[in-house]
Amino acid sequence: MDSIADICDTFCDNLSEFNTKGEPIDMRRYLGALTMDVICSCAYGINSESINLRRPSIHPIVANVKKIQGVDASVSMLTSVLAPGVAKMLRLELFDKNALNYFDELTNQIMNERKTINKQIADKLRLTNLRTDFMQLMINSEKSDKDFGYDSTSEGDPDVSTKHPTRRPTSQLTPDEITAQGIAFFIGGYDTTSAALTHAIYYLSLHPECQQILYKELKTCDDFTYEKLGHLKYLNAVINETLRLAPPLTRFQRQCLQDYKLGNTGITVPKGTSIEIYTYALHRDPEYWPNPNDFIPDRWFEPTHHPYAYIPFGSGPRLCVGQRFAINEMRMCLAMLINRFEFTLAQKPQLDYFICNTLMSPKNLLVTLESRE
Ligand code: HEM
Repeated sequence: MDSIADICDTFCDNLSEFNTKGEPIDMRRYLGALTMDVICSCAYGINSESINLRRPSIHPIVANVKKIQGVDASVSMLTSVLAPGVAKMLRLELFDKNALNYFDELTNQIMNERKTINKQIADKLRLTNLRTDFMQLMINSEKSDKDFGYDSTSEGDPDVSTKHPTRRPTSQLTPDEITAQGIAFFIGGYDTTSAALTHAIYYLSLHPECQQILYKELKTCDDFTYEKLGHLKYLNAVINETLRLAPPLTRFQRQCLQDYKLGNTGITVPKGTSIEIYTYALHRDPEYWPNPNDFIPDRWFEPTHHPYAYIPFGSGPRLCVGQRFAINEMRMCLAMLINRFEFTLAQKPQLDYFICNTLMSPKNLLVTLESRE
């Protein structure tokens, strides 16, 4: 939480430059940069400095993440899912190969550096754990591929016929898995969290009275710590209400594993059917939410909704693994931003979205900001 607080603090300092100019700024772009810096720092311990608004070039890690998540990547991914035959014929890769190689090398480099440096310092100080980023947690549980009889250059699972153990302890990771988890962190956490923060600033700019209530609540808090932010009722209500109206992932999928009778409807879903769960529609269903299209944070003070009527992070065993991380990042970022600035919408009330995307991703958000100090 300290790294997130430091990054948000620098972000606010950089934003304050815009205060005097009074010109509209695109918060979508800057919140994207902020989220990128938080992930780079918390996952890899890297300071990518995207929020340094004067920096002329972007950090290679940011460039490579963008290759993995860019438009070309969406086209190959969509083709691979909808028409795997065509994708194979066109030799489309699910992810950009060069970008994957970059992450492979970066992970190996960080792991080697950490092991050497940590060993030296640990020997000196008799410590075992020196960093607390995600990469370090994974390194702590790493075993070499060979320990598991697994050849990372092959494409399949470990060879069952070898004398090596084929059942790996599930608590330990191979280097390939560490790289994959690092990339998953970006894919799962970057655009989702930056879209959520953009929507929160959007709704607060559209409803200045709610922004003022939040500001007053923040003034009662002497220090933005993990514990204290968790107890701020209105801040958490604003986050919940934002994720209800604008769930960054508008839908997710499941596959039916056995024939399933849907209550008394007379419908049986056959085994093997793909099911689409449409979060956006559930979140705005008037059967569960009075005035479903209105931004009303107060409805979260004593919530009475059905537990499955609110599922911005999914549900069940494949629930979003980054849920708590994302919520804590949003709490810190919103608290710091609203505490320092007053935001006013500087565009038409509706947002424009990228279409053909499961992500509810606004193209931009124009606001002006005024310092409260
Ligand atoms: C506001 C921010 C976020 C939202 C709304 C969100 C939402 C979701 C949703 C709806 C799913 C699918 C869950 C399901 O199928 O039941 C998911 C999965 C996932 N999310 Fe997030 N997420 C967010 C932030 C993050 C962050 C910060 C990370 C990483 C640190 C992350 C990593 C993942 C991963 C790895 C999965 C796949 C989990 C699995 O299949 O087992 N997400 N997320």
